[in-house]
Amino acid sequence: MNGKTPDNKAKAQSNPQPPAPNRFPDRIERVGAREGYDRWSETYESTPNPVVAMDSRHTIKILAPVAGELILDAGCGTGRNLRPLLTAGTAAVGIDFSIGMLQVARRQLDVPLALADLHATLPFPDGCFDAVLCALIGEHLSDLGAVYSEFYRVLRPRGRLVFSVYHPEMSAAGIEANFEQAGVEYRLGAIHYSLAAHMQLLEEAGFGGIFAQEFNGDRDLIESIPAAEKYLDAPILLVLAAHKF
Ligand SMILES: C[S@@+](CC[C@H](N)C(=O)[O-])C[C@H]1O[C@@H](n2cnc3c(N)ncnc32)[C@H](O)[C@@H]1O
Repeated sequence: MNGKTPDNKAKAQSNPQPPAPNRFPDRIERVGAREGYDRWSETYESTPNPVVAMDSRHTIKILAPVAGELILDAGCGTGRNLRPLLTAGTAAVGIDFSIGMLQVARRQLDVPLALADLHATLPFPDGCFDAVLCALIGEHLSDLGAVYSEFYRVLRPRGRLVFSVYHPEMSAAGIEANFEQAGVEYRLGAIHYSLAAHMQLLEEAGFGGIFAQEFNGDRDLIESIPAAEKYLDAPILLVLAAHKF
């Protein structure tokens, strides 16, 4: 955890809710990521979210999935990124530790899904995936180095990792995943990793060819989510790509 206690204004920026003038949550509750995403699962995809919008625009393009590839979507949630992987003709597999998120994915998609914690040994043999995608989970991973090592283990030689995360400047500012339900604002916490920390942990896990791309809020984003106006020209998304030697 970054130890900061962000105010309500920052929270509203991180995950803007549909306009509701003069409406504030009755109370704020802190929950762990698993419980939080279980609760959030049914409304996750319909919650306007600038980070998700930017991720949808950039991350799959960077992954550049090729038909026939076996790709792991680690922390697949409701399967938002599994859809374009299927469209590209890949054999995609999703894992997540939230039963609620997986149930939504199961209803929507015909792909192999499994309940798994990224902090444990992944339920796959060494070297089996052409690529691993891990989108928008980084701030929940307390042992990121171990997670990167597991991704390295399950990738085939020259296999690639694409890891997107909301920009470290946002976590450094105390912004964290949050959502509102029945008058309660749930806050899921955020562990801060700097860009340098990501690069170092990737290298220590054995990855090479590491490159990072940062994306700022722009007019297209604000057109789709007007409440994201405050993010114009501000860093929102970091995408790291690397490959196994
Ligand atoms: C912000 S959502 C992103 C979901 C999906 N990747 C996407 O981009 O739409 C974060 C997801 O990470 C999952 N998650 C967080 N920590 C996890 C862990 N340790 N193991 C497995 N899944 C985890 C949550 O359950 C949730 O589905």
